[in-house]
Amino acid sequence: EVMSDIFDLTNVENKLKECLGLAEVIVVPGDSDEAPWVKKEMGRATVQLMKRYLAYEETKIVALTGGTTVAAVAEMMTPDSEMKETLFVPARGGLGEQVENQANTICATMATKAMGHYRLLHVPDQLSQDSYSSLMEEPKIKEILDLIRSANLVVHGIGEATTMAQRRSSSEEILQTLHEKQAVAEAFGYYFNQNGDIIHKVLTIGLQLEDVIKTKSVVAVAGGTSKAHAISAFMKQKTSNILVTDEGAAKALLELH
Ligand code: G3H
Repeated sequence: EVMSDIFDLTNVENKLKECLGLAEVIVVPGDSDEAPWVKKEMGRATVQLMKRYLAYEETKIVALTGGTTVAAVAEMMTPDSEMKETLFVPARGGLGEQVENQANTICATMATKAMGHYRLLHVPDQLSQDSYSSLMEEPKIKEILDLIRSANLVVHGIGEATTMAQRRSSSEEILQTLHEKQAVAEAFGYYFNQNGDIIHKVLTIGLQLEDVIKTKSVVAVAGGTSKAHAISAFMKQKTSNILVTDEGAAKALLELH
């Protein structure tokens, strides 16, 4: 029974790798919509994968997004020789999340558990075009932005669009736009429709999607049957090359493709 389940998941991983055009896919058993421990298992699998990828890098810089899934990766982090030399940075500035879901918080937690290093990005959540432009000129901000852009590993979540917009208390106007343009996915503070087109973006400094695409290894960590459409849509951007997911999302994804 156990052997056939393992074989089955390997099969699912290979099929997903092919239809999403990814370098690597890891599927953990279960469905995180139903059982919270499944998210921790995705976290554990991501930690192992991060260590494997970082082993090949001379300077080890990891950029992280916010969200409960990347928070689960931080929770499962353990120290070792690779991790001691790693610098953790947040991928983007404030997106309107509660403290525990913010990239800065997760970054500090993960670095502490890894016994590594971290730098934070202190920028407010709601930036006007003017304050955005002047912040970009701040030498201290420029310095950390350079570090963030030199990350060789990015670990990020993918969310269902409406869930994310509501969680971030987005304005009625934004919720309306997302509804009209049929947003299904969110990642890095960008919102996408089912074709993977960008339909809205939160204005904040840090990695823009065009920077993420240039990063060597980009790991998406997202699971739960309810996220299948979101994962499918975001993967059309071809930004990420690695996916860590769960059986619930993986099987639903295969039905979509
Ligand atoms: O940035 C948030 C992610 O896109 C999704 O968040 O991991 O809590 O579902 P989550």
